[in-house]
Amino acid sequence: MRTVKIFDSTLRDGEQSPGFSMTTKEKLKMARALETLGVDVIEAGFPAASPGDFDSVAKIAEQASEKCCVAALARLNKDDIDTAWRAVSRAKDPRLHVFIATSDIHLKYKLHLTKEELIDKIRTFVSYAASFTENVEFSAEDATRSDPEFLVEAYKTAVASGASIINVPDTVGYASPDDFSKIINRIKQDDALRDVPFSVHCHNDLGMAVANSLAAIRLGASQVECTVNGIGERAGNAAMEEIVMNLKVRKDHYDADTRIDTTKIMATSKLLSMITGVRVQPNKAVTGDNAFSHEAGIHQHGVMENRLTYEVMTPESVGLTENRIILGKHSGRHAFEDKLAEMGFTVPQEKLDVVFADFKVLADKKKHITDKDIEALLKNSLSDIPEIFKVDRYMISSSNMLSNTCCIRLLKNGVRTPEGTAMGGGPIEAAFNAINIATGYKILLAEYKIEAVTGGNDAQGAVSVRIRYNDRSFKGYGLDPNIFEASIKAYINAINNMINQTENQAVAQEGRDRR
Ligand code: KIV
Ligand code: ZN
Repeated sequence: MRTVKIFDSTLRDGEQSPGFSMTTKEKLKMARALETLGVDVIEAGFPAASPGDFDSVAKIAEQASEKCCVAALARLNKDDIDTAWRAVSRAKDPRLHVFIATSDIHLKYKLHLTKEELIDKIRTFVSYAASFTENVEFSAEDATRSDPEFLVEAYKTAVASGASIINVPDTVGYASPDDFSKIINRIKQDDALRDVPFSVHCHNDLGMAVANSLAAIRLGASQVECTVNGIGERAGNAAMEEIVMNLKVRKDHYDADTRIDTTKIMATSKLLSMITGVRVQPNKAVTGDNAFSHEAGIHQHGVMENRLTYEVMTPESVGLTENRIILGKHSGRHAFEDKLAEMGFTVPQEKLDVVFADFKVLADKKKHITDKDIEALLKNSLSDIPEIFKVDRYMISSSNMLSNTCCIRLLKNGVRTPEGTAMGGGPIEAAFNAINIATGYKILLAEYKIEAVTGGNDAQGAVSVRIRYNDRSFKGYGLDPNIFEASIKAYINAINNMINQTENQAVAQEGRDRR
């Protein structure tokens, strides 16, 4: 049986899509989880895109072990390649991933190059990338809409110039599995390309990303590019967990497997949702909330007799454990730690005290603590955002006859700020306006989401916000059984995030200037 390499692009193609941006610390956390999951390559980012991307790639490269290759993306030009290499070269196994579009439409409207000029560019800059490392991946962007003969010429030039692996992206999610197979067969027909390892990178615009990736694996792809939960540009990239579980469950069909520890899939998917604040759609294959739940009576009956009647894989195989440990207010630290382990979460020792203290506070307010409560608690307590502003006290009045008002006092680094008082169309708007006055920042609320973590009257309210300040956006999260308080906490968390990120950026710039 073959082993297909998993090239994870959650931190590059996934992160660059709207709503999924992550801070460097969050990316480092995610990279650690990806390595534990067993991915072969982490595409850590696009260093030339921004100073923040450069820093994340450099830090992920430093952190990764020799078991995990770290790739940095670069366009085919000297500056991009130099910047990408500066960032990724600290990895034990670094890779330069260079790309350029090969389709007529991109050549004409985006690159303004003739085919000859493009071939020259490939020759010059793939050779340049190969002067830094033997580990060079060449991607022909929009490969599936390119003239197949020209595509083959582009790949041959890249390989002759030093590329060690070629990637076939379905950039716009246009191909059908038949089209994709035809393109791959055409590439493999060429004597110079037959034995070159090839990778595939599929987008999901028509919902075919996983199907196309699997078709390519059947034709011998040695690497598949994907993201956790299928996040990515527009409709996303191929979902890592779906490809991996297809290979595992249908070994008979694909005769290929991966190095992924599938029992870590759920925890990795949940970590990503916690970090980005974006939940997985409930009916999503493998990682959706409903992927292993059975509602219809006839199904429930079958599953109780034998799970295989309605399940093609076990929940345990993707890390969904049976709820063996039930937590309540009498649960001690050992039980709590066992529960975290059962759910597949590794919490650094220094953070355990905080999470456990938060758990005890919640257990006093809520009788039944569910797995969802614990996930929400982890998300809240594991935040790395320093509490520069913190709520001291507030009063909100809400009415259908009088104005909605809020008066709030905050602590800034432990010192009381002058009170802020404001009105609003509703109590939450009044609270946010009052916080703007108390902090002195003129902030705009771009997004506000509230949900009950569980069912029941004592459910916790989880609030996610996105604020805008100086044309940048920052997210915040707040959790509390009182939804006003959860909203206030989320807004203040976003402000702290904004201050922290702005300061970190200034420090990072200083570091780069000194280098
Ligand atoms: O979709 C795409 O073509 C890409 C390339 C950079 C590989 O993301
Ligand atoms: Zn892509």
